[in-house]
Amino acid sequence: MRAHKFDVIVVGAGGSGLMAALYATKNAQGSVAVISKLYPTRSHTGAAQGGVGAALGNVDEDSWEWHMFDTIKGGDYLTDQDAAEIFAKDVIDAVYELEHMGLPFSRLPDGKIAQRRFGGHTREFGKAPVHRACYAADRTGHMILQTLYQNSIKEGVNFFNEFLVLDMILEEDADGGQVCKGVIAMDIASGELHTFHAKSVVLATGGNGRMFKVTSNAHALTGDLTAIAYRRGIPLEDMEFYQFHPTGLYKLGVLLTEGVRGEGGILRNGAGERFMERYAPTIKDLAPRDIVSRSMYMEIREGRGAGPNKDYILLDITHLDPKIIEERLPDIADFSRTYLRVEPTTEPVPVNPTAHYTMGGIPTTIDGEVLWGTQNNEIVHGLYAAGEVACVSLHGANRLGTNSLGDLIVFGRRAGVAAAKYANENALLPITDDVARRAEDLISRTRNASGKESVAKIRAEMQQSMQDNASVFRTEETLSAQVEILRGLNERYTQIGISDRSERFNTEMIEAIELGFLLDNAETLVHSALNRRESRGAHSREDFTERNDPDYLKHTMIYRKEIGHTEIKWRDVVLGKYEPKPRVY
Ligand code: FUM
Repeated sequence: MRAHKFDVIVVGAGGSGLMAALYATKNAQGSVAVISKLYPTRSHTGAAQGGVGAALGNVDEDSWEWHMFDTIKGGDYLTDQDAAEIFAKDVIDAVYELEHMGLPFSRLPDGKIAQRRFGGHTREFGKAPVHRACYAADRTGHMILQTLYQNSIKEGVNFFNEFLVLDMILEEDADGGQVCKGVIAMDIASGELHTFHAKSVVLATGGNGRMFKVTSNAHALTGDLTAIAYRRGIPLEDMEFYQFHPTGLYKLGVLLTEGVRGEGGILRNGAGERFMERYAPTIKDLAPRDIVSRSMYMEIREGRGAGPNKDYILLDITHLDPKIIEERLPDIADFSRTYLRVEPTTEPVPVNPTAHYTMGGIPTTIDGEVLWGTQNNEIVHGLYAAGEVACVSLHGANRLGTNSLGDLIVFGRRAGVAAAKYANENALLPITDDVARRAEDLISRTRNASGKESVAKIRAEMQQSMQDNASVFRTEETLSAQVEILRGLNERYTQIGISDRSERFNTEMIEAIELGFLLDNAETLVHSALNRRESRGAHSREDFTERNDPDYLKHTMIYRKEIGHTEIKWRDVVLGKYEPKPRVY
């Protein structure tokens, strides 16, 4: 067992983790370290292609108020309006900060940062689409990662790459609250456990899309820290709101950015009809993702899909100038050619919705402080979260495209500053000798597992059943069936067998541990979805088709009692000047 001490530890090296680490380094009097499961530039922020939304107004007139309003309406009024206001104002300056750090944004002829249209982003409170997404071709997230990583190295951030976090050092404090004193992680290369003892910890590990069969999420997106928080008694907020991005490559789920439609791409059904004109007459293909994904499935269900089995939709960019495609959308053109052998300049590309983003997560205040209760003063001392792993709640029931990258830089920065301040004002608290016991047990139980059940088989069954029962459309029946399926899979998970008992790069063991995390994430999604008997944003209940503000304009907070048994509490939505209205586009 190796032991380390730092003032601030950041878990995760995507956009929010790197931004938190940079700001913790700038503000902390002591040392800062990042622990990451991946080499930082392989983090999933790199997959966010199309842009970061900020009301710079470089192409059309724009204002942060319109951006704030769009975010709240896009979130079906479950967005906390204090978070949305901070976000819409601060993201403008955060984009310029990235530019000054060296991010190579695409440019307009006058040299200003280029901006494109994106779903749900409008001018004058919904009148027409606005050019708000600041982009670097279709590699915006990738460029953010490179820029933040290079700047983190320059600022002297310490990195522990390819470390799998297995537990948090979380204890009761003298007042009966909770305090976080660090994390326990395994060095994947050696299999050795490390104790990271710290004054404050920022969680920034991203999402959990691998619980679904068709997803844009990379292999590593297994909801590790949401599961660990949940196991340790921290509630998870709004987990029922899972986003399906409309345009994943058919069957594969590989993302084709919404920026394609921002540049003029059109969704067509099997008859060639631009069907979004029927579902969202004002902004059509640039409606928010929940609406577009549902509309695509409606077309398919009603027999209007494309292809021999009428089971996909076509993304048509054949009318765009090929020069624009090569300049602004080079990666998605490559993906279509490489994975589907479709030439996008001359043929429409088969697509379907793909599991993309969790709007819910670890509940935080606007400064990233993690909550253990439903009130803002019920915080876990020394523990912060930001980005997709967290729920601040900026995205409410449905995130607008580009607001994830904005969320990372705005709330990653705030969490880094707050964690540094906490570390400056507090001493390193003592830890007991047995802090690694849970992690040791998990490793030993998994490495020595000798049952008959296969990890790959349980994972495949979880992914297929989550796709069938808990994805874009849900009912009491499908969700109840999924509760039972997950119960069975959890039981079988206790009987898994592992054949590799080695220490170094034991990916078989890591996948087994990750499956446990995914099963917990799936449990929170399904139980929360069952409990919310209304349709709102990305949570579409076919048995409760309307939004029900009197009963459900509130955040779900799910707690684990034991595996398969949960307790749900509610948390008030922070309302403000934009009152809930019917959501039409
Ligand atoms: O479509 C996209 O480029 C994805 C961006 C996002 O999820 O914000």
